[in-house]
Amino acid sequence: MRLFIAVDPDAATRERLEQTITSLRAQAPSAKWVNPAGLHLTLVFLGEVDDARVPEITGALAAVAARHRRLSLAFRGGGGFGSGRRPRVLWVGVEGDVAPLAALQSDLAGALEPLGFPREARAYSPHLTVARAREPRGDAALAACVEGLNVDFGTTTIASFVLYQSVLGPGGSKYTVMAALPLAAPSND
Ligand code: 2AM
Repeated sequence: MRLFIAVDPDAATRERLEQTITSLRAQAPSAKWVNPAGLHLTLVFLGEVDDARVPEITGALAAVAARHRRLSLAFRGGGGFGSGRRPRVLWVGVEGDVAPLAALQSDLAGALEPLGFPREARAYSPHLTVARAREPRGDAALAACVEGLNVDFGTTTIASFVLYQSVLGPGGSKYTVMAALPLAAPSND
């Protein structure tokens, strides 16, 4: 199965994201827009994994979760990956506890390395993908959408991260929760 680890925006944030996606998609009709119900912030992409390895992976993830506290993430603004004139990916930005988020991401990558999942060479850049160009050379219409992402979509308390299974299908990917790993509660001091 195809697995990845992500955190999710809360329902109110998702609703605001959905409104913006719904109004922007007409401006870039050739792009592949994500289903708002499946919006997520990816921490680590594991790729194809044997089903039998899920308990071992979940065990490693639980140990990481116990070492990190809840995060507050604000979803605001956005941009494009690739060329400024023809982005390949349109994304919404993340602000707030980004340093603790990066620490969590790095700890997850470190815990998965000995299980045979090599760390990505590129630096982690947290983002919510909202649309992808169909053409490898990008989509100029996506560049015109960046301004429309200049919105405060909301702040989410991240109390857990999720191991997701992604099933690729004709109508887009479907994501199933394999395990939700609660982060440590905030300390009282
Ligand atoms: P993206 O949003 O930047 O495309 C499920 O496919 C999630 O895993 C997506 O959010 C995707 O990030 C992320 N991901 C990271 N590396 C990937 C890869 N090599 N192939 C597919 N998805 C990847």
